[in-house]
Amino acid sequence: MNAIETNPAARTVASTQSEMTEIILPNDTNTLGHLLGGRLMHFIDLTGAMAAYRHSRTHVVTAAMDHIDFIRPVHLGDLVTLRSSVNRAFNSSMEVGVKVWAENTRTGVTAHVASAYLVFVAIDAEGRRQRVPQLTPETPDELRRFEGALRRRELREAEAARRKDARLAMAALEGSSPSGE
Ligand SMILES: CC(C)(COP(=O)(O)OP(=O)(O)OC[C@H]1O[C@@H](n2cnc3c(N)ncnc32)[C@H](O)[C@@H]1OP(=O)(O)O)[C@@H](O)C(=O)NCCC(=O)NCCS
Repeated sequence: MNAIETNPAARTVASTQSEMTEIILPNDTNTLGHLLGGRLMHFIDLTGAMAAYRHSRTHVVTAAMDHIDFIRPVHLGDLVTLRSSVNRAFNSSMEVGVKVWAENTRTGVTAHVASAYLVFVAIDAEGRRQRVPQLTPETPDELRRFEGALRRRELREAEAARRKDARLAMAALEGSSPSGE
């Protein structure tokens, strides 16, 4: 049996790679027989969490899922394969990338249908945040994703600050208006 070190200083991207394949059944589709967007987001969340579990070896929660483009429809009967890995680890959070392909079972043609970035936060059973190992990129692609993850974190923080300012400005306006509660 291979024991995995639970708290190393760093892990490789390869050690976090995860994969899931689903066959699309009638319950997963809309009235046109296309995979529901929400169902695909559920698969993305699960596959992303697998990579985060492998990196942190503790409980994780989804803190954020970035913008997703549904590039082309997935049809009833297709095989959907999702692959995930951690792009970068910060203090208690990890950015995970998930890429999704659909395969037509009769023709064997496979196409990229969606991609997403998610942030997971490691916590213990009492909900306290846990420090995660750092991630060591080993290939040029892994390094590109590692550097991109820092830029995306800065963009998320800037966007969160912008939304907070907008909420405060709106609250101040509502508070000062005669009809404000
Ligand atoms: C995610 C959660 C644990 C963050 O808690 P918090 O008290 O706001 O934490 P902090 O602001 O101190 O941030 C902790 C880390 O989370 C990251 N984070 C928090 N909110 C984030 C967001 N919206 N997007 C990206 N990262 C986020 C921070 O950058 C920080 O990362 P770091 O430790 O690597 O520097 C908390 O908001 C939560 O429990 N949310 C609900 C999660 C959930 O129920 N998900 C769905 C089911 S799994």
